[in-house]
Amino acid sequence: MLSVESPAKINWTLRVTGKRPDGYHDLETVFQTISLHDTLVFEESPRLVVTCDDPAVPVDERNLVTRAARALGADRIAIHIGKRIPAGGGLGGGSSNAATTLVTLSTLLGITVPLEPIALSLGSDVPFFLQGGTAYATGRGERLTPIEAPSGIPLLLVLPDVRVSTATAFGNLRRFSPPLGIERQRALAAQIPLATSDWINDFEESVFAELPELARIRERLVASGATWARMSGSGSTMAGAFRSEADRDRAAGMFPELRVETATTRAAARN
Ligand code: C5P
Repeated sequence: MLSVESPAKINWTLRVTGKRPDGYHDLETVFQTISLHDTLVFEESPRLVVTCDDPAVPVDERNLVTRAARALGADRIAIHIGKRIPAGGGLGGGSSNAATTLVTLSTLLGITVPLEPIALSLGSDVPFFLQGGTAYATGRGERLTPIEAPSGIPLLLVLPDVRVSTATAFGNLRRFSPPLGIERQRALAAQIPLATSDWINDFEESVFAELPELARIRERLVASGATWARMSGSGSTMAGAFRSEADRDRAAGMFPELRVETATTRAAARN
């Protein structure tokens, strides 16, 4: 039996730079893995079985863990997903689970094929989770360069009880922004948790128009001491970064009516 952590991510910034002929959008983003994680347990089994402790999560072919295992031809493994990362929250839980499955099974089974193309075929955010840490990304999110950033930065995640579909969020998008370029993004990342107006998320305008309570959560995060506060991915999670754990823990008490999670930023685990 093997138990492996499958981390969530936030996006420090997310610029949608253009619409592509293939139906996807080009992005410029800075991904960050964080301490909030699901746990995947791998065990030998007569056939492929995927289970999850959250009954709301489908475990059939809709589940990226099932699809990742099938893509590697793994048919004698049981994988149990212990879910902590909310689905539809912009935290990349399903994508992370898929990448963790690809990395773990390829090691267990001695499979040496490149994992990046399989990861991208499963979802745009999956290639990032093969490495984790802090990464500058363009394309659909698969053109990745690791960048330096401080680890252990205190974060507060506010998790409203509403799910946002990524495909719908791209469809409703109202704004595009030009990329800042890797050198500028690298300079900003080195100064986390600084306050910068350059670290925008292009989804906020259209998602906040539908869900104005998210804009208010952002204002409350800033008012409670967050130096940076943004929606993660296409939402609905709102994330804030703080100068100290004491500041962050004080802010956590200011959202008694909402689910909150404390977390810290994590460096790349797998090199
Ligand atoms: O790649 P993934 O399955 O996560 O994408 C879900 C949907 O989000 C896509 O079908 C597409 O509509 C949209 N998307 C996009 N551009 C991206 C990533 C996702 O338009 N870079």
